[in-house]
Amino acid sequence: MNKTMSIIIINAITVPKERAAELEKRFASRAGEVDEQSGFLGFKLLRPMDGRDVYHVMTEWASPEDFQKWMSSPAFQHGHKATNEQGPVGTGSEVLQFEVVDFDAS
Ligand code: HEM
Repeated sequence: MNKTMSIIIINAITVPKERAAELEKRFASRAGEVDEQSGFLGFKLLRPMDGRDVYHVMTEWASPEDFQKWMSSPAFQHGHKATNEQGPVGTGSEVLQFEVVDFDAS
């Protein structure tokens, strides 16, 4: 039987081309507090290479509860300091949620 090993939560941010450098700058000096959250398994900032204007902020978590806990923590607020203080870089964002499917060989 297939079972879920972890979950992937992606924040897909639409960024006008002239604001892309600013977005990457903000991530380059990110707080890093998410790295210490329980159940946090990894993060990647994905830059579009197909001409689209949507960056994906990809995070991996052990469970939906771990992600929810981070979302409502001070660490989430600290992690979005530049966004909170200077406003968003992008013109919109959408959250995508996936289960990672583990194919059991048996
Ligand atoms: C409207 C909603 C959101 C916007 C506009 C946004 C944008 C940003 C930006 C520009 C940064 C760089 C740091 C800063 O600006 O201070 C950041 C950090 C981050 N964002 Fe978001 N974000 C949003 C919601 C989310 C959500 C729902 C997730 C879940 C996948 C997420 C994941 C992250 C992570 C992991 C970091 C790094 C935090 C750290 O280093 O502790 N963001 N976000």
